[in-house]
Amino acid sequence: MENNKVKAVILAAGKGTRMKSDLPKVLHPIYSKPLLGYVLDAISATGLVDESIVIVGHGAEQVETFVKNYTNNANCVLQYPQRGTGDAVAKSKDILENFQGTVLVVCGDTPLIETETIIDFINFHKNNKSALTVMSAIFDNPTNYGRIVRNLDNSLKCITEEKDASPEVKQIKEINAGIYCFEKELIFPLFNDLKCNNAQGEYYLTDIVAASIDKGLKTSAYILQNNDEIFGINSKLNLSEAIKILNKRTNSRLMTEGVTIVDPDTAYISPDTVIGRDTIIFPNVYISGKNTIGSNCKIGPFAHIRDNVQIGDNVRIGNFVEIKKSVIKSNTNVSHLSYIGDSQLGEHVNIGAGTITANYDPVLKTKKQTIIKDGANTGSNSVLVAPVVMNENSMCAAGSVITKDIDADSLAITRSPIKIFKDWVTERLRKGKSGEE
Ligand code: UD1
Ligand code: CA
Repeated sequence: MENNKVKAVILAAGKGTRMKSDLPKVLHPIYSKPLLGYVLDAISATGLVDESIVIVGHGAEQVETFVKNYTNNANCVLQYPQRGTGDAVAKSKDILENFQGTVLVVCGDTPLIETETIIDFINFHKNNKSALTVMSAIFDNPTNYGRIVRNLDNSLKCITEEKDASPEVKQIKEINAGIYCFEKELIFPLFNDLKCNNAQGEYYLTDIVAASIDKGLKTSAYILQNNDEIFGINSKLNLSEAIKILNKRTNSRLMTEGVTIVDPDTAYISPDTVIGRDTIIFPNVYISGKNTIGSNCKIGPFAHIRDNVQIGDNVRIGNFVEIKKSVIKSNTNVSHLSYIGDSQLGEHVNIGAGTITANYDPVLKTKKQTIIKDGANTGSNSVLVAPVVMNENSMCAAGSVITKDIDADSLAITRSPIKIFKDWVTERLRKGKSGEE
């Protein structure tokens, strides 16, 4: 049966030695989403791929657990031992047994690849009616990448890895991006003939290019325009560099969409956060995970929005405020020094400075809800011990610890009564001077 949908194979079995980490490389997060999540999202957003096959090996169990929880249309296949990228792709043989059509191969450690590029790449491959297409890029500094070697007539010849390259080949600036498209029936048989007689003793996926050409199959290269997209993560330094690239991309898009960002260099905003126009992001804001922020809001400076937060319009989230897993309706203010977690705030709520929702039960290790309805106000430095409800227009006085629901239009106060000692200071001074003390 002809199937127009593409199957993706994502290579994620490698060790990631240079990360110097106990966590498998592809699970390292950017804004709380693992690198592999970015790749899975970019592929699934193309709408052209109906299934992803993730090749797992190093930290296989952890990676598999992540994939299972993250998406329904990806399956994992174990590669053990890890004998190279060619061997990795070959592991998808059984799962693809009955599939006829195009296979897309992507590395799990290139989180910046964009959906539009993948679409363009697949279309390029299909329109050319190629058996195999490899994505290439022109790098000023091509060190460590496989080089695209071409014949005098500019046609493709092969890919040579840095470690196997002669000084002449090392001069080549066209590199292998590590992303491929191929027709399964034509190319899969060639994997049987891969050899590992190279500098690393591995089965190189890159050797498929020469094999395909030798068989007389149409083999093409697609030259990537924006090199940032194939930035690979091999170290913690690379991880920090990728965040910078991602920020630049996200913040530029948000500003184009009408968000005001006072200082894009210090606005850390996850790409999965939607922000309405005329919202102002002040400096030193960190927004992680998936969130929605409405229009005309003011966020920061120094605000931390952690994940799963929905904010309406005209909301003020001020300095040193942390918010997590909460809904905040329009026209509400959380202006200073507060923690709002697992909470639902209505409209026109005012959260006084230093208000804390105590959402965590450390004995049962569970999170509890705080509900603050329309028009309610909290006094400064109040603690709302969840589960607790503040009904419409209710108030709690400054410094209160709220452990019971507050009725609508009512005030709650928990304070020891104030005592005032009249003239105490004067008296104290007089006694001190006269030597009575
Ligand atoms: C690979 C390419 C190189 C290209 C570069 C682009 C090969 C031989 N070389 O080199 O031409 O320029 O990518 O970034 O393919 N993996 C497995 N199983 C294995 C080995 C690797 O799943 O046995 C996975 C890794 O987890 C990684 C990906 O394959 O996600 C690439 O492997 P890596 O070792 O990083 O290859 P490079 O040396 O970067
Ligand atoms: Ca790599």
